[in-house]
Formats: sequence, C-alpha cells, structure tokens
Amino acid sequence: MMVRKAVIPVAGLGTRVLPASKAIPKEMLPIVDKPAIQLVIEEAIAAGIKEIILVTRSGKEAIENHFDKHYELESTLEQKGKTAILESVRDILPPSVTVMAIRQPEAKGLGHAVLCAQAAVGKDPFAVLLPDVLVDCDDSDVHDLTQMIVNFTENSSCQVMVERVADEDISKYGIADCNTDLDAGSSTTVSGFVEKPAPHEAPSNLAVVGRYVFPARIMELLKDTKPGAGNEIQLTDAMDNLLKEQEMSVYRMSGQTFDCGNKAGYVKAVLNFALKHPETKEQTRSLIKQLSV
Ligand code: G1P
Repeated sequence: MMVRKAVIPVAGLGTRVLPASKAIPKEMLPIVDKPAIQLVIEEAIAAGIKEIILVTRSGKEAIENHFDKHYELESTLEQKGKTAILESVRDILPPSVTVMAIRQPEAKGLGHAVLCAQAAVGKDPFAVLLPDVLVDCDDSDVHDLTQMIVNFTENSSCQVMVERVADEDISKYGIADCNTDLDAGSSTTVSGFVEKPAPHEAPSNLAVVGRYVFPARIMELLKDTKPGAGNEIQLTDAMDNLLKEQEMSVYRMSGQTFDCGNKAGYVKAVLNFALKHPETKEQTRSLIKQLSV
C-alpha cells in the first residue's frame, strides 16, 4: 500500500527550550533561514508524502500560517522585484501537497496526539514524524524515511527508525528490543520497545528517534491504550500491542539526527545546516576554526 499521509504532532509546550518557545512555537525556531518544522515537512515530501496532518493546539497558529499563502508579503516582494526571496516564501509547499491541522484539546501524550489524527488518516497507512528531531540524509546514500516507506510497501510491516545512543542518553528515548548488530540503512524484526528505561534495564542501545510508518490499525489500538509512563497515552504501548498481532521492524538510519528538543541538540542542528547553506557555510567554517584555537 502506498504511504501518502504523515502525522506530525506539534502540540507540545516546548518546555525544554524555554524561554525561546514562550511566545513562538518551538517548531518555528529557525535553523539558519527555515523554521525547523519546514525541514521536517520537506523530509516527508521527499519521501513521497502528499497529505500532512499537523496535530496542534491553541497558540501555535504560526505553524499553520507558515504553510499558508501570505498575499501582502508576496505582492510586496513581487513589486520590489525580489524574486529569489519571493520564491522562497511562495514555494514552501509543492502544489500537490496539502497541510491540514487538527487540534489536540488536552496534553495527554504522544499516543493521544497521534490518535487525534484518526479521522484524517482513515484506513490508510501513514508515517509519523516527531518535529523535535531533524534528520539530515544529505551525506548518505539512502533517504531514511523513503527507505522505510519502501520497506513498508514491500512487506506491510510497521517500520520504526532507530539509532545508536550513548548509555547516558538511553533514558531519554524509547528503546528497541532487537539484535543490536544492525548496519546503518538496514532493518530487522523487533520483539518489543521500552519507553525511557534506566540504562541497566535497557534491552539495547538502539533508540527510537521519531520516525515511524504505521498501518491504520495502530489507531484502533491507541483507542484502547490506557495512560502509561508519565500518566500519558504512550505510542510505545500501542506499538507493543501491535506487535502481538503482527511483525514489526526497526530500521537503523544512515543519516544524522539532531534532537532540537534540547538546547545542545538545537545548537548542533544550526551549525550542521549553516555549514551546508551556500550563504553561511564559509563564515560558519571560519567561525568554528576561530573558536576552536
Ligand atoms: C518520544 C517517544 C520516544 C522517542 C522520542 C524520540 O518521546 O515517546 O519513544 O524515543 O520521542 O524523540 P518524547 O521525546 O516526546 O518524550
């Protein structure tokens, strides 16, 4: 089955990056000249997604506005002949892609956020992209989300992206219970997930990094999922229930991830993308050299 829909939960309060996220959504923090959410949506589009479903909340309207038309700005830029900037503002979404927004009325966890998109997902398979995590596949042969969708299409097995993390980071993530000798760009079946375990209780060091491809069935299971860790409805718990019914795979990413949900991850992301941007790469490189002597 083709995967054309993606759910992106953006209702989080952004407490880990306060005060920057007090008046603007954390997803709108700039990574050089694009808000982080734009990079996430570009990643989804590159993997063939056509319908983006944002699960949002009051106070985060800036995200929807960013993907909407801005007539006044566009006509001003046009009159002034600022063609390149005009294109960067006007062509954020290809015409074949739609973005819709659904509200999550209460903060009841990631699983609940995904469930809020059920009416829009219907019976179709879908990807989930967590917007705190940026994925950069520029230097790898495979585009990770594309490969996960190919794997899903070939064998209908749910795909969960993982990467190795250091022991001290294990308790920040969902951890996969699987064979750990997994090469980058390859996948294997998984026997379970543990949400944010203590390092000595973790079944592996392969962390769920926020990219999933699910069958619509996960929505039914989420409906029956009781609040778990942190008294929230956990996506990980519904995934464990899905695993009782069907095989699931973890896919080890070959690109690089940046967890912008924390300050150091955000700084790393900005530096990484500044070193690739034609307008900033030279100066960023010299700055890094200058600061490291
Ligand atoms: C969520 C998931 C967790 C995953 C993480 C990736 O946790 O529950 O399994 O590893 O995203 O960023 P959160 O960061 O929302 O607490």
